[in-house]
Amino acid sequence: MNKPAKPIMLFDCKTSQKIIGQDKFLNAFENILNHGAYCQGPETKELDEKLAQYSGTKYCSTCGSGTDALTLALMAWDVKPGDAVFVSSFTFVASAEAPVLLGATPIFVDSDPNTYNMDPKDLQRAIDEVKKEGKLNLKAVIPVDIFGSPCDYDEIIKIAHANGMKVLSDSCQSYGSVYKGKKAGSIADMTATSFYPTKPLGCYGDGGAVFTNSNEENELVKSCRVHGMSPEDHYDNVRLGMTGRMNSFQGAVLLQKLTVFDQELKDRYRVASRYDNELDSYFGRQQILDNCKSAYALYTIHCEDRDELMSYLKENGIPCGAYYPRPVNTQTAYAKWNTRSLPVCEKLSKTVLSIPMTPYLDNEDLDYVIKTMNEFAAKKAKKAA
Ligand SMILES: Cc1ncc(COP(=O)(O)O)c(C=O)c1O
Repeated sequence: MNKPAKPIMLFDCKTSQKIIGQDKFLNAFENILNHGAYCQGPETKELDEKLAQYSGTKYCSTCGSGTDALTLALMAWDVKPGDAVFVSSFTFVASAEAPVLLGATPIFVDSDPNTYNMDPKDLQRAIDEVKKEGKLNLKAVIPVDIFGSPCDYDEIIKIAHANGMKVLSDSCQSYGSVYKGKKAGSIADMTATSFYPTKPLGCYGDGGAVFTNSNEENELVKSCRVHGMSPEDHYDNVRLGMTGRMNSFQGAVLLQKLTVFDQELKDRYRVASRYDNELDSYFGRQQILDNCKSAYALYTIHCEDRDELMSYLKENGIPCGAYYPRPVNTQTAYAKWNTRSLPVCEKLSKTVLSIPMTPYLDNEDLDYVIKTMNEFAAKKAKKAA
C-alpha cells in the first residue's frame, strides 16, 4: 500500500477562496447584510446579465438549484400529465425527477457506450415506440451532458424538432463546456444548469439557472420562479409556480467565482490532458465529440474491474466514485416507467469510475494517481498473460 505525499481530493470547493481572497466574499456578504435584499437582490440580477453574456444567450434567470432550473424550464413549456418527455437514464436522478414532478411520463433513453451521453439512435427508437402506442403527446427531450461533456446536439435537436419537440439541455454538470463553438447555455432551445458546490462553477449552497433566447420563455420562467406571479400585479398569481428564487448570498459567491472560472477550466483541461495521455489503455476514456470541450465536472473512465479498481485506489489514498451505480430507470421510485431495455446504461453503471478532477491538482498529485492506476493495469496484464 502506498500513500500520497499530501491528501488528494476528488472535488475541491475551497481552494478558490484563497485564490480569490476571503475578504472579497466577506465584503460582498456585508454589503448584502446592509442592503437587506436577501432574495433575488442586486447580486443575482448582475449575475443574470453576466451569465447570459458568458454563455452567449439573450436571457439567463438564476434560481434555487439545478432541479428548480429543469422544472422551471418545463413549466414554461407547460409540461403536464399526458406528455412524454424523453430523458437520459445514465444521469443524476433530477433530470427525470423534474418532468415527473409535473405529471409527465419520462421515457428513458439509452446512452452511447463511448460518450456515455444520450444515443440519438435510441432516441429515435423511443420516439417511434411512443408514436406507435399513440397514448402520449410528444413534448420534450432532455439530453444530459454527463460529467461535463456535450451531447450530440445536432442529431438530438434534428430528431426532436422533426417530431415537434423542444430540447432542454441538462447542463447541470457542463457549465463552461463548448459544443462546436457554442457555450453551454446557448445550444439547445432552453438550458438548465446547477451551481451546486461540486459543479464546475459552484456556489456555497444551492443554486441554478435557466438560459433561453426567447423573451416569452424567460418571462414565464421568471413568473414560475415566484409562484406564477404576474409581472404587473404581484398579488395576482396567473399560473402555478414554485419558490425557485436564488438568494443574494449565492449570487455574490458566483460573481466572485466567475472571476477565476476561465482559469479553472484551463486547469481542468490540464488535468484531463495528463490523464488522457498518460493513463494505461486498460482504462476506457469518455469520448469527447469533435470540436467540443468538456467542462470536466468529473473525469470518468470505464473498465471491467471497476469495483476492484475502486477498492485499490481507496486503499492507496485516492478518492474516487462510481457515478452512477444505478441508471434512473432501475431506481425504486421510477419502476413504473422502467419500460425499455437500456443495456448500455446498465453496463456503464457497472464499469464507470470517476477519479480526482479539480483545477488545483498539481503534478505531484497527478503523478501519484497516474502511477497508482497504471500499477493496477500492469497487475491485470500480468495476470492475464
Ligand atoms: C445531471 C444533473 N442534473 C440535475 C442536477 C440537479 O442539480 P441540483 O443539485 O442543483 O438541484 C444535477 C446535480 O447534481 C446533475 O448532476
